[in-house]
Amino acid sequence: MSSSTKPAILSTLAYLSLFFSIALSSCSDGFNNKAKDVNITNCKELTTLGAEFGWSYTSSGLNGTKVHIILGARLQSEMGWLAWGVNPGKRPQMVGTRAVIGIRQQNKSLVIKTYNITKDTKLGCQLLPSDNIGVEVSNAKIEYMQETSYLVIHAAMILPLEKYNISELNHVWQVGHYAEDLQPAMHPTALQNVDSTETIDLATGHARSAGHHRRHLRMVHGILNMVGWGTLLPVGVIIARYSRRHPIKYRHWFVLHAGCQITGYVLGTTGWAIGLWLGHASKYYTFHTHRLLAMFIFTFTTLQMLALRFRLKENDEYRKHWNMYHHFLGYALLATIAVNIFQGIAILEPNRTWKSAYIGILGSLAAITLAFEVFTWAKFLVDKKRSKNTQPKPL
Ligand code: HEM
Ligand SMILES: *[C@@H]1O[C@H](CO)[C@@H](O)[C@H](O)[C@H]1NC(C)=O
Ligand SMILES: *[C@@H]1O[C@H](CO)[C@@H](O)[C@H](O)[C@H]1NC(C)=O
Ligand SMILES: *[C@@H]1O[C@H](CO)[C@@H](O)[C@H](O)[C@H]1NC(C)=O
Ligand SMILES: *[C@@H]1O[C@H](CO)[C@@H](O)[C@H](O)[C@H]1NC(C)=O
Ligand SMILES: *[C@@H]1O[C@H](CO)[C@@H](O)[C@H](O)[C@H]1NC(C)=O
Repeated sequence: MSSSTKPAILSTLAYLSLFFSIALSSCSDGFNNKAKDVNITNCKELTTLGAEFGWSYTSSGLNGTKVHIILGARLQSEMGWLAWGVNPGKRPQMVGTRAVIGIRQQNKSLVIKTYNITKDTKLGCQLLPSDNIGVEVSNAKIEYMQETSYLVIHAAMILPLEKYNISELNHVWQVGHYAEDLQPAMHPTALQNVDSTETIDLATGHARSAGHHRRHLRMVHGILNMVGWGTLLPVGVIIARYSRRHPIKYRHWFVLHAGCQITGYVLGTTGWAIGLWLGHASKYYTFHTHRLLAMFIFTFTTLQMLALRFRLKENDEYRKHWNMYHHFLGYALLATIAVNIFQGIAILEPNRTWKSAYIGILGSLAAITLAFEVFTWAKFLVDKKRSKNTQPKPL
């Protein structure tokens, strides 16, 4: 890679991750209207669970800050619960959170209560409402929007000044799928669920999440793999297949092919290494299939890359078999890579942009391949016809 392309790639990456994170930030119209109905004007989409959060506050002369919040998220099933809370401790985390939890019960009735979430809750002890959570909560309301399956909770609360600083407020949100009476049952512990915390400045809405470096790295990991393995390698294959002889004869096709594969390999391997580190650093989860496929892809792509170096001579008698092997493995790898990128997108569940972007890339590559394929055949047929006309073969 030349020294001038490196900054270009880096700034493209930075731009891409900026683009994806900006796409995360504003609220849907439906939710915005709900928030405006209760006089809440600040609104943002939270980083996980598709949750949207609105707030307003008044720093009155009381002993605390009066904060008015609204939270909405889509329930995956008929019943479920939605929680929002503040944590007076040092870190935004589940244990120690004082929460408002809205439940949609099996019989479709809605309840909203306050809860003090402790170590014991995490250990699986039952979570029951507490009237006193050290935060005065009033006007707690819960609503279910049938059309969108959205559960929305809103409440006003007074946060005591000595425990809560609204320029760095630790807040936590969560969605669960089951509840028994007034007891919310444990939520899933997927990536999105354990990432549902941040420290927010209510004045600006800016937030920093506990694992924001890791979250950023996951994005970079995803983009590098999508560009490296997922785009450049297939482009290199297309170049090798269609510019070597038919339909285009380009003398320097091998340089282009090798350039694409090497750049793709370097970017993909960097993404892969970041992925290894991420897997190592996550306490909650191992994604077995994703990991296994990644190992397979790295190992065999490395073999393919060695092939660029140790190519057999044109006239070697093993060349034909060798080519077959190289091509077959290449196509198998491309399929595995696509599968694993979709796996990764499913784990990260970033937003719809990612999946559409990658489907767009695959779709364009498929369209280009199809066009070349049709063109090759058409050219082949025309050439055959012409050669028949000009120089008819003797019988
Ligand atoms: C209903 C009973 C609940 C149970 C049994 C439960 C259990 C757990 C468990 C086992 C973890 C796993 C990760 C680990 O090992 O640290 C976890 C993480 C988490 N839970 Fe809960 N939970 C419950 C309710 C809630 C509620 C109501 C909230 C939000 C207000 C919440 C927010 C979180 C968050 C943000 C994490 C990420 C890790 C952390 O901050 O500690 N949970 N929970
Ligand atoms: C919102 O503000 C308007 C004007 O200040 C007021 O009339 C209305 O009652 C408020 N609505 C709520 C739900 O507080
Ligand atoms: C502020 O706190 C003091 C003592 O903690 C209490 O007596 C007083 O009523 C509180 N004021 C308001 C407006 O809540
Ligand atoms: C909530 O639980 C914590 C333990 O995590 C406890 O120290 C605190 O006193 C409880 N708060 C109230 C208001 O009961
Ligand atoms: C709240 O946090 C801000 C920013 O960290 C800090 O400047 C301010 O002094 C804090 N206020 C209180 C009352 O601790
Ligand atoms: C729904 O079920 C809950 C218990 O799960 C019960 O307390 C409540 O009264 C029921 N509501 C209706 C409308 O039947």
